[in-house]
Amino acid sequence: MHPDTPRRNARNAFSTLVRERGLLYGGDYNPEQWPAEVWPEDVALMSAAGVNLVTVGVFSWGRLEPQPGEWNLGWLDQVLDLLAAAGIAVDLATPSASAPPWLAVDHPETSAVNQDGVRMSHGSRNHFCPTSPVYREHVLRIVRVLAERYADHPALAMWHVGNEFGQVCYCDLCADAFRAWLQRRYGGLDELNRAWGTAFWSQHHGRWSEVIPPRRAPYLHNPTQELDYRRFASDQLRDLYRVQAELLRDATPAVPVTTNFMGFFPLVDYQSWTDDLDVVADDWYADPADPRSPARAALTHDLMRSLGDGRPWVLMEQATSAVNWRPHNLPRSAGTMLVDSVRAVAHGADAICYFQWRASLAGAERFHSAMLPHAGPDTDLHRAVIEQGDVLRRLRPVAGTRVEARAALVFDWSSWWAGRAPGSPSDRMDAVDRLLDAYEPLWRAGVAVDVVPPGADLDGYSLVVVPGLYLVSDQDAANLARVPERGGVLLVGPFSAVADPDAHIRAGRFPGPWTEVLGVSGEQHRPLPEVGVEVRSELIGDFTAHTWSELLRADDADVLARYAGAGLAGRPALTRRTHPGGGSAWYLSTVPPADALNRIVLAAAEAAGLRAPVDCPPEVEAIRRGDVLFLLNHGTRPRTVRLPYPATDLIGGTRTTGDLVLPAESAAAMIEEDR
Ligand code: GAL
Repeated sequence: MHPDTPRRNARNAFSTLVRERGLLYGGDYNPEQWPAEVWPEDVALMSAAGVNLVTVGVFSWGRLEPQPGEWNLGWLDQVLDLLAAAGIAVDLATPSASAPPWLAVDHPETSAVNQDGVRMSHGSRNHFCPTSPVYREHVLRIVRVLAERYADHPALAMWHVGNEFGQVCYCDLCADAFRAWLQRRYGGLDELNRAWGTAFWSQHHGRWSEVIPPRRAPYLHNPTQELDYRRFASDQLRDLYRVQAELLRDATPAVPVTTNFMGFFPLVDYQSWTDDLDVVADDWYADPADPRSPARAALTHDLMRSLGDGRPWVLMEQATSAVNWRPHNLPRSAGTMLVDSVRAVAHGADAICYFQWRASLAGAERFHSAMLPHAGPDTDLHRAVIEQGDVLRRLRPVAGTRVEARAALVFDWSSWWAGRAPGSPSDRMDAVDRLLDAYEPLWRAGVAVDVVPPGADLDGYSLVVVPGLYLVSDQDAANLARVPERGGVLLVGPFSAVADPDAHIRAGRFPGPWTEVLGVSGEQHRPLPEVGVEVRSELIGDFTAHTWSELLRADDADVLARYAGAGLAGRPALTRRTHPGGGSAWYLSTVPPADALNRIVLAAAEAAGLRAPVDCPPEVEAIRRGDVLFLLNHGTRPRTVRLPYPATDLIGGTRTTGDLVLPAESAAAMIEEDR
């Protein structure tokens, strides 16, 4: 048998589940909060709402193993039997995110230590140390018990390992594991000293025991030590995921294994995890107060789809209305809830789930919205949940299909980490902000985008945008440089290719590995005062740039925009080098306001021959998935879209030729004729 066969089987099992049931719909189900009499009612209401997938057991460790080695699984048998009888698939969790109090009391070393050296107490959740062998031993014991007991249960459709991996611990056990990780990375101390640049500030390490995590220190940490600790912490969590996943795969080779990501989460490098997941899953909590929420959501969804190489993914958690963890929790409208879910489907999700099914009456999340609110089923919110089940049923033809993108945005976790390290020229050059800025024009224009690492195979993309890639290896830099050389369009943003993988600054004119391909080179990064700087451009139109500028020289490139102040008058702000094969390499050295960036990105997209599927009025998004053209109006006014072909809406059922009127906060999924 080919070594990848079981993984393929597990991936196929997810596709089969979707093929058999259509798009999946449901949420976290935490039945241990209610007496058993409530469960049949839950299951009946789930069925009535079209729920066909629930995640069970994420935080059930204390109920399953109330004291060490004492098992109480009868209640879970009962819950799974009820769900199986109703035909509801179960994504069964391993409860590793929250160990019961006895583990912390009996084995204090299983609890994490923060940067100040304070050991976390139990009493909340996620207090574990990812390294602790005792914690891992207890985790694996309960995972084994669950795997053995439920391997053949008819409800079992998927495994959900832990929850939102994201802990960083600074204890002595982690310090030891960090040293072992560094030994694997660097071999010896000489190489570590070189990579960390310890000649500065008397940081030379003469013995491994001197090497520690970046615990609280008086002033700035060594930036490479910090970067390596982030890499290590992400790998350590992945290892904790892996040991559980391996055990589950041994028990049930054909059951997909996943865990829930958290979008652009700063503590875990998801690009290094994706091979470990049979299906990518994400938690997305839209902020109703954020005007950029639709764009942010779309970008995050595109990241998730790209992490899984374009395969359908799972929206594992979102909120039906308000969350309880922001300072002031605005509710979400029913319309937004629907449009947001359809957006996720449009961007490649085959499952739409919520936290949680029934709203808690007690505990830390008692004010978090749910699919079944405190007030019960006779509520607007629950009716909206039922309606959503119906919409997802109608969208069944989309299940399993793909989004084809010819534009890529480049993102890399190590680069994000290194670029926002303290002691940098500005703390306003966050890579995710730059990514969203560059994404919005494409998203608004309806150009489909993948979000890829710098080492990705870029051959299928005619436009590659690198909004901000502070750190890049020579190899990845060469990979990106090939884009214009083979006829594509490469657009590079400011503060890019500054550092190498050790986070050392690349000496010489910047962006070091790209000065030739871009035909431009720089000598000074110049953060801007609040007033910004005027930029003159015939092609783009004049604008006032903000945050950042660079002292550049065009060596072999057309200057498309020039600074008119800030000590840079006449110097290039935006350049383009046209390559012999027709490709072009653009360099933008500042942060333009949204409308100007819009024009720049769209000019690059046009040069790459990318066209939107339709002309989108404001607040309307368009994206094609498979044969379906999704049109989403996230605004509060009706909008009209001119359809290029006659088309029938899968959701509303009506056929339209010419103008389609999208009511406020509504979604259409058009099957076009004769395209
Ligand atoms: C997620 C978590 C859930 C729940 C939810 C509330 O981060 O996985 O268990 O706490 O947030 O929004």
